[in-house]
Amino acid sequence: MADKRRFDLFADLLVARYPGALRVFDVAGGMGMLNEALTLRGRTCTTYDVRHKRLPGLKFEERLFTLDEPCGADLVVGMHADGATRLIVEYAGKHGIPFAVVPCCSDNSMPYKPWMRHLKELGESLGMQVDEVELPMGGRARVLLGR
Ligand SMILES: C[S@@+](CC[C@H](N)C(=O)[O-])C[C@H]1O[C@@H](n2cnc3c(N)ncnc32)[C@H](O)[C@@H]1O
Repeated sequence: MADKRRFDLFADLLVARYPGALRVFDVAGGMGMLNEALTLRGRTCTTYDVRHKRLPGLKFEERLFTLDEPCGADLVVGMHADGATRLIVEYAGKHGIPFAVVPCCSDNSMPYKPWMRHLKELGESLGMQVDEVELPMGGRARVLLGR
Protein backbone atom coordinates (compact mmCIF):
# COMPACT_ATOMS: atom_id res chain seq x y z
CA MET A 1 0.00 0.00 0.00
CA ALA A 2 1.49 3.35 -1.04
CA ASP A 3 2.03 5.93 1.68
CA LYS A 4 -0.74 8.57 1.67
CA ARG A 5 1.71 11.28 2.78
CA ARG A 6 3.63 10.94 -0.47
CA PHE A 7 1.98 13.88 -2.26
CA ASP A 8 2.63 16.48 0.46
CA LEU A 9 6.17 15.21 1.04
CA PHE A 10 6.98 15.27 -2.67
CA ALA A 11 5.37 18.70 -3.13
CA ASP A 12 7.45 20.13 -0.25
CA LEU A 13 10.62 18.71 -1.78
CA LEU A 14 9.78 20.11 -5.22
CA VAL A 15 9.12 23.60 -3.88
CA ALA A 16 12.38 23.52 -1.87
CA ARG A 17 14.53 22.16 -4.71
CA TYR A 18 12.99 24.10 -7.60
CA PRO A 19 11.78 27.41 -6.11
CA GLY A 20 11.59 29.09 -9.52
CA ALA A 21 9.55 26.34 -11.17
CA LEU A 22 6.06 27.80 -11.05
CA ARG A 23 4.51 25.74 -13.91
CA VAL A 24 4.62 22.02 -13.32
CA PHE A 25 3.57 19.05 -15.47
CA ASP A 26 2.45 16.20 -13.21
CA VAL A 27 2.65 13.13 -15.43
CA ALA A 28 0.68 9.99 -14.58
CA GLY A 29 -0.81 11.89 -11.68
CA GLY A 30 -3.75 9.57 -11.04
CA MET A 31 -6.65 11.53 -9.60
CA GLY A 32 -4.60 14.70 -9.06
CA MET A 33 -3.47 14.49 -5.44
CA LEU A 34 0.02 15.87 -6.22
CA ASN A 35 -1.57 18.58 -8.35
CA GLU A 36 -3.69 19.62 -5.37
CA ALA A 37 -0.65 19.68 -3.06
CA LEU A 38 1.35 21.79 -5.54
CA THR A 39 -1.55 24.15 -6.19
CA LEU A 40 -1.81 24.77 -2.44
CA ARG A 41 1.87 25.73 -2.57
CA GLY A 42 1.33 28.35 -5.26
CA ARG A 43 2.26 26.29 -8.32
CA THR A 44 0.29 26.07 -11.56
CA CYS A 45 0.09 22.36 -12.16
CA THR A 46 -1.31 20.32 -15.03
CA THR A 47 -1.94 16.62 -14.47
CA TYR A 48 -1.82 14.12 -17.32
CA ASP A 49 -3.55 10.80 -16.83
CA VAL A 50 -6.24 8.71 -18.46
CA ARG A 51 -8.21 8.22 -15.24
CA HIS A 52 -11.81 9.43 -15.26
CA LYS A 53 -12.03 9.71 -11.48
CA ARG A 54 -10.29 12.86 -10.29
CA LEU A 55 -10.38 15.70 -7.79
CA PRO A 56 -12.54 18.65 -8.92
CA GLY A 57 -11.20 22.04 -10.00
CA LEU A 58 -7.72 21.01 -11.12
CA LYS A 59 -6.02 21.50 -14.48
CA PHE A 60 -6.24 17.99 -15.87
CA GLU A 61 -5.56 16.58 -19.35
CA GLU A 62 -7.25 13.23 -19.76
CA ARG A 63 -4.83 11.62 -22.15
CA LEU A 64 -1.53 9.79 -22.26
CA PHE A 65 1.47 12.09 -21.96
CA THR A 66 3.95 11.75 -24.82
CA LEU A 67 7.27 13.28 -25.87
CA ASP A 68 5.34 15.40 -28.38
CA GLU A 69 3.43 17.33 -25.71
CA PRO A 70 4.21 21.06 -26.21
CA CYS A 71 6.32 22.25 -23.31
CA GLY A 72 4.56 24.82 -21.17
CA ALA A 73 6.24 23.85 -17.93
CA ASP A 74 9.33 24.78 -15.90
CA LEU A 75 9.46 21.31 -14.33
CA VAL A 76 8.12 17.85 -15.17
CA VAL A 77 7.44 15.36 -12.37
CA GLY A 78 5.97 11.96 -11.69
CA MET A 79 5.05 10.12 -8.50
CA HIS A 80 4.99 6.34 -8.99
CA ALA A 81 4.46 7.02 -12.68
CA ASP A 82 5.09 3.43 -13.78
CA GLY A 83 5.34 3.29 -17.59
CA ALA A 84 5.62 7.06 -17.88
CA THR A 85 8.71 7.41 -15.67
CA ARG A 86 11.25 6.95 -18.46
CA LEU A 87 9.21 9.33 -20.60
CA ILE A 88 9.47 12.06 -17.96
CA VAL A 89 13.28 11.85 -17.96
CA GLU A 90 13.35 11.87 -21.78
CA TYR A 91 10.91 14.78 -21.92
CA ALA A 92 13.05 16.83 -19.55
CA GLY A 93 16.12 16.11 -21.69
CA LYS A 94 14.31 16.98 -24.90
CA HIS A 95 12.96 20.30 -23.62
CA GLY A 96 15.85 21.36 -21.38
CA ILE A 97 13.80 21.50 -18.17
CA PRO A 98 14.45 19.77 -14.83
CA PHE A 99 12.62 16.66 -13.70
CA ALA A 100 11.80 14.84 -10.49
CA VAL A 101 10.52 11.27 -10.33
CA VAL A 102 9.70 8.84 -7.55
CA PRO A 103 10.10 5.59 -9.47
CA CYS A 104 8.10 2.52 -8.61
CA CYS A 105 7.53 -0.20 -11.20
CA SER A 106 9.68 -0.28 -14.32
CA ASP A 107 8.31 -0.40 -17.86
CA ASN A 108 10.30 -3.50 -18.76
CA SER A 109 10.20 -5.80 -15.70
CA MET A 110 13.58 -4.54 -14.48
CA PRO A 111 13.96 -4.91 -10.69
CA TYR A 112 13.86 -1.71 -8.61
CA LYS A 113 17.58 -1.06 -8.02
CA PRO A 114 18.71 -1.58 -11.62
CA TRP A 115 15.69 0.49 -12.74
CA MET A 116 16.81 3.38 -10.51
CA ARG A 117 20.35 3.11 -11.85
CA HIS A 118 19.08 2.97 -15.41
CA LEU A 119 16.94 6.11 -15.01
CA LYS A 120 19.83 8.01 -13.41
CA GLU A 121 22.16 7.03 -16.25
CA LEU A 122 19.51 7.97 -18.79
CA GLY A 123 19.26 11.47 -17.32
CA GLU A 124 23.05 11.82 -17.28
CA SER A 125 23.29 10.62 -20.88
CA LEU A 126 20.88 13.45 -21.78
CA GLY A 127 23.23 16.01 -20.22
CA MET A 128 21.64 16.39 -16.80
CA GLN A 129 23.06 16.12 -13.32
CA VAL A 130 20.92 13.60 -11.41
CA ASP A 131 20.78 13.51 -7.61
CA GLU A 132 19.04 10.96 -5.44
CA VAL A 133 17.25 11.67 -2.16
CA GLU A 134 14.73 9.77 -0.05
CA LEU A 135 11.34 10.94 1.18
CA PRO A 136 10.59 10.08 4.85
CA MET A 137 7.77 7.64 4.07
CA GLY A 138 7.00 4.00 3.48
CA GLY A 139 7.02 2.22 0.12
CA ARG A 140 9.04 3.34 -2.88
CA ALA A 141 10.41 6.60 -1.50
CA ARG A 142 13.60 7.34 -3.42
CA VAL A 143 13.53 10.41 -5.65
CA LEU A 144 15.65 11.17 -8.71
CA LEU A 145 16.14 14.89 -9.26
CA GLY A 146 17.51 16.02 -12.62
CA ARG A 147 18.60 19.43 -13.75
C1 LIG B 1 0.65 3.63 -10.01
S1 LIG B 1 -0.40 4.86 -10.71
C2 LIG B 1 0.18 6.28 -9.81
C3 LIG B 1 -0.81 7.38 -9.76
C4 LIG B 1 -0.41 8.55 -8.83
N1 LIG B 1 0.77 9.25 -9.31
C5 LIG B 1 -0.20 8.09 -7.42
O1 LIG B 1 0.94 8.15 -6.90
O2 LIG B 1 -1.18 7.64 -6.81
C6 LIG B 1 0.31 5.04 -12.30
C7 LIG B 1 -0.50 5.94 -13.24
O3 LIG B 1 0.23 6.13 -14.44
C8 LIG B 1 -0.68 6.47 -15.46
N2 LIG B 1 0.08 6.47 -16.74
C9 LIG B 1 0.92 5.53 -17.22
N3 LIG B 1 1.47 5.95 -18.38
C10 LIG B 1 0.99 7.21 -18.62
C11 LIG B 1 1.21 8.18 -19.65
N4 LIG B 1 2.03 7.96 -20.69
N5 LIG B 1 0.57 9.37 -19.56
C12 LIG B 1 -0.25 9.63 -18.51
N6 LIG B 1 -0.50 8.75 -17.51
C13 LIG B 1 0.12 7.54 -17.57
C14 LIG B 1 -1.76 5.41 -15.24
O4 LIG B 1 -2.99 5.77 -15.85
C15 LIG B 1 -1.85 5.41 -13.71
O5 LIG B 1 -2.88 6.27 -13.24
